[in-house]
Amino acid sequence: MHVLLVGDGQLGTALRQVLATAPQHRVTIWRQPTFDITLPGAADDVAALAPDVVINAAAWTNVDSAESNPDAAYAVNALGPKYLAEGCARCGAALVQVSTNEVFPGHPGVFYREYDRTMAGSAYARSKLAGEMAVMQMVQRLYIVRVAWLFAPGGVNFPAKISQAADRLGALRVVDDEFGNPTYAPDAAAAIVQLIESERYGIYHLVNDGWCSRYQFARQVLTHSGRGHVEVTPISHTEWQRATQPPLHAVLVNQAAAALGIRLRPWQEAVAEYCRQEFAATV
Ligand SMILES: NC(=O)c1ccc[n+]([C@@H]2O[C@H](COP(=O)([O-])OP(=O)(O)OC[C@H]3O[C@@H](n4cnc5c(N)ncnc54)[C@H](OP(=O)(O)O)[C@@H]3O)[C@@H](O)[C@H]2O)c1
Repeated sequence: MHVLLVGDGQLGTALRQVLATAPQHRVTIWRQPTFDITLPGAADDVAALAPDVVINAAAWTNVDSAESNPDAAYAVNALGPKYLAEGCARCGAALVQVSTNEVFPGHPGVFYREYDRTMAGSAYARSKLAGEMAVMQMVQRLYIVRVAWLFAPGGVNFPAKISQAADRLGALRVVDDEFGNPTYAPDAAAAIVQLIESERYGIYHLVNDGWCSRYQFARQVLTHSGRGHVEVTPISHTEWQRATQPPLHAVLVNQAAAALGIRLRPWQEAVAEYCRQEFAATV
């Protein structure tokens, strides 16, 4: 397959690495600043390249700054996917649109399947949901892949922030009533490649197996990074001020991919692997 990979952040980098080990696929990588998905010409570029599948790993991912820059977030998360989808429709390519657990309201105690009703609560979530809807209107050979708390070695992510804060402050306060699914980008990338090879289009939740609170996630990172001695106080989300309030329980269930035999390992194992990669010199 000729794969066009757009974006080279955490997930894009992991996809590039997985695809590099799959000689059956030819890969073209487009990234900023030479390729900007918010420009309408992006559709023409995709149509002219005519790949077999486009994977959109580009996004505006800063949830808090989306709140004060909603137009810019919409441009990247909704208009960009729309242009990519338009290009796919014109050349017959399939599309993988990556989305987020935050499209769900996150009611405490609820576990969200692929076909549950969405309800976005922040500018970021609304922009991502608009992206899902835009691509659905244009591409039939479509995979919508929702991931959650994404992390990868070298990335800007929760585990990196926790370990840096532990080293700087010596003790931490971490929210214990916000729940989600840690998602190791290399595991999600491998699953996405399995999906495109399956040609079974649809909505998928690709998250590591299990779920946890931010506090539990932090404890696991500290334990596996040689920082198990760091004191962590569990706190309520009401004690942690930020520009947006993420859904408290947007916990995803991988039902659709699991039915195809595509599962990600338990999140605790993924955190251990991340720590081996990220802190190899210190642990
Ligand atoms: N991070 C999370 O915790 C999380 C959670 C749930 C879902 N997701 C979703 O997972 C996907 C991947 O996230 P990630 O963490 O890998 O993101 P990331 O590390 O922030 O990378 C995003 C990439 O998009 C690129 N990009 C931004 N605007 C662009 C534009 N106009 N044209 C072309 N490229 C552009 C960025 O380029 P620059 O580096 O040049 O800015 C960067 O390479 C996204 O769809 C995100 O919404 C992420």
